Amino acid sequence: MRVLLTGGAGYVGSHAAWTMHRAGHEVLVFDNLSEGHRAAVPEDRLVVGELMDRSLLESTLRQHKIEAVMHFAALAYVGVSVTDPAEYYQNNIVGTLSLLDAMRAAEVNRIVFSSTCATYGEPEQVPISEEEKQSPINPYGFTKLAIEHALSDYSHAYGLGYAALRYFNASGASVDSPIGEDHKPETHLIPLVLQVALGQRENIKIFGDDYPTPDGTCVRDYIHVDDLASAHVAALKKLEPSTALKLNLGTGNGASVMEVVEACRRVTGHPIPVVMEGRREGDPPELVADARLANQTLGWQPKYTDIESIVASAWRWHEAHPDGYEDR
Ligand code: UFG
Repeated sequence: MRVLLTGGAGYVGSHAAWTMHRAGHEVLVFDNLSEGHRAAVPEDRLVVGELMDRSLLESTLRQHKIEAVMHFAALAYVGVSVTDPAEYYQNNIVGTLSLLDAMRAAEVNRIVFSSTCATYGEPEQVPISEEEKQSPINPYGFTKLAIEHALSDYSHAYGLGYAALRYFNASGASVDSPIGEDHKPETHLIPLVLQVALGQRENIKIFGDDYPTPDGTCVRDYIHVDDLASAHVAALKKLEPSTALKLNLGTGNGASVMEVVEACRRVTGHPIPVVMEGRREGDPPELVADARLANQTLGWQPKYTDIESIVASAWRWHEAHPDGYEDR
């Protein structure tokens, strides 16, 4: 299938691009390279452009006879979305509406959308099923939920087939493609802990050890980025006009911040000193997926179900690329 991946030079998008590429699909990446990396994209498969450039999007869709879109391009720093919501609303909502307009004009009617567990806010029930109320607690989560609503309405009115995939904590790195995680600045737990093992940081700060969890630190559901990629491929296969899929993507297993640090100690052999800090604003104590619906609907099963194997794949990338991609 001929598929356009917006944000395909970013972390999750590039893993999906390589997975699709290796599975024999014709992939084309559309990315403004503000967060993404040219080196993460399969050769000759990149169009550099802005989501707001609706005419470039439309001509790209037409010229390459694109049959479906995977939409990863978004700003995704929860903290920045609180201090600078304008660019989040502009990019994540207005940018996506521009993409949806271009798709309608070019008669492309299938899309897989990167949504997030942040649309649930502070859930009442954990593990979190798709039945849980979506009540985000930050602008990032609001922008993603707004697009879920738009997709539902476009599906109803225009016959758009869509899958909104609600990621839990994307992590790890590809084992068979030359790509991994490189955010600047880095805010995510696993790469930050591995920077300690690389000698780039003295310690890892733990944001709160007084949560109502077994060891007092926050629990998250870390899902390998290649497993996210394979779920996209499976979701795409299910899309027909007016299909509406809303699915959690997680392993169903929680790991606490301390358990992540311990897994990193075992994998790297480094003592990894920790410093206890206060809670980070907006962190729910526990976010773990009930991922049964994705399994039933897509026949999808994550390959990586334990935190140590996820950390080991991340470590292989970070050891080989201590400064990330070399393109900036
Ligand atoms: N943490 C630390 N120290 C650090 C960094 C993180 O203790 O230096 C803790 C956080 O407090 C949190 C856990 O490690 O409890 C994971 O934090 P991340 O920043 O790696 O990930 P989040 O769970 O905050 O965020 C992820 C995605 C977001 C998404 C969110 C949904 O990165 O895009 O899940 O809640 F919105």
